Amino acid sequence: MDTPQHFDPKDFRQALGMFATGVTIVTTRAGDGSPVGVTANSFNSVSIDPPLVLWSLAKNARSLDAFTTGEHWNVHILSQEQEALSNLFARAGEDKFGQQQLEPGVSDAPLLPGCSARFQCKTMFQYDGGDHIIFVGQVLSYDRTQRLPLLYVTGQYALASRKALAVSTEAQADTADSLYSENLLGYLLGRAHYQFLGGIRALLNERGLSDADFFVLSLLSVRDSMAGADIAAHIAYTGIDVGAVLLQQLCDRGLLQKNEHAAYSLTDSGRDSILHVIAAAKAEEADVLERMGEAEAALLRNLLKQFIRATDPGLPKLWTAPVAS
Ligand SMILES: Cc1cc2nc3c(=O)[nH]c(=O)nc-3n(C[C@H](O)[C@H](O)[C@H](O)COP(=O)(O)O)c2cc1C
Repeated sequence: MDTPQHFDPKDFRQALGMFATGVTIVTTRAGDGSPVGVTANSFNSVSIDPPLVLWSLAKNARSLDAFTTGEHWNVHILSQEQEALSNLFARAGEDKFGQQQLEPGVSDAPLLPGCSARFQCKTMFQYDGGDHIIFVGQVLSYDRTQRLPLLYVTGQYALASRKALAVSTEAQADTADSLYSENLLGYLLGRAHYQFLGGIRALLNERGLSDADFFVLSLLSVRDSMAGADIAAHIAYTGIDVGAVLLQQLCDRGLLQKNEHAAYSLTDSGRDSILHVIAAAKAEEADVLERMGEAEAALLRNLLKQFIRATDPGLPKLWTAPVAS
C-alpha cells in the first residue's frame, strides 16, 4: 500500500458523504441469544448470481463480536417512515429492541417489519477493512414492499425523488436579468395554489362558497368551536380579514351557529358542505399524485413544510395547538 495521505478526517468524511445511499439496520443474535442491531449505510449489492451483498462495521462497535461470530444477519432497507428507528439503532448501548415487534425469518436473526426491502443473509466472507470489518453475505431470502426508501446524503436524511425528465426551454431561458421568471418561488407557489384550487372551484361555486367561506368552514371542521377573533387570526395568513359580518352571513345561511359564549361552530348543513368540498379536494389531490408520483408528493410536502416554517411570522398553529373548547 502507498504511504497513506494524512487527510483531515472531518473533510474526508464530508467528501464521502457526497455519495447518496439508502439507510439500513443490520441485525443478528449475540452468543447469549440477545438481539443486536446497528444502523449502517455502508450496505451495497455485490453479485446477482450467486446473490451477494456487503456492508462494513466499525471495529469499535459494541456489536462487533456478535457480527464476527454470528453466522446469520438481516439487512433492513429502511422506509421513509423509519427515521426514528434509524436514530435508535445508531445509538451505542441503547436498548434497541425493547418495543420492537419481530417477524419470523429463515434464521434466528431479528427481522423487523415496516421496511422497503429486507435481505436475510449468511456470512460468506469477512475482510479486514482498515478501521472496519467488511462482511460479504449470501442472500438466503429477501422481500420488498412499495414503501419508499429513506436516503442519506451530506450527513442528513433525505427523500428519494425522480429527477425531472426534461428541463423546459422556458426554464433554460431564465437569466439573471429577467426579474419575473418561471423560477420565482412566489410565482411557482401561487400558480400551484390557484391551479389546485381550480379543480374544486366549480363545487365551491355550486355551493355558493367564496374563498373566505371555504377557509372558515374548513378551519371549523378541524376545531369544534372557536371565537370570532381566533378564527380571524387563523385565516389572516390568506390576507382575508374575517369579520363579524362574514361570520353572521354564514350563520344566516345556516352553515354556522353561535353559542352563548360567542363561539362559532359548524351546523349539520355547514359540516355537510365542507365535507363535500374536502372530499373533492382529496380526490383532486389523489389525481395529481397519480400523475406526479408518490415520491415527488412526499418530497413536495416536506419542502413545503420547510418553506412554511422558514416564512412563518409566528401564526397560530392549527394542528398542533390544543383543541379549543
Ligand atoms: C445513517 C447512518 C449510517 C451509519 N452507517 C454505519 C456503517 O455503515 N457502519 C458502522 O460501523 N456504523 C455506521 N453508523 C454508526 C452506527 O450505527 C453506530 O455507531 C452504532 O452506535 C453502532 O452500534 P453499536 O455500538 O451498538 O454496535 C451509521 C450511523 C448512521 C446514523
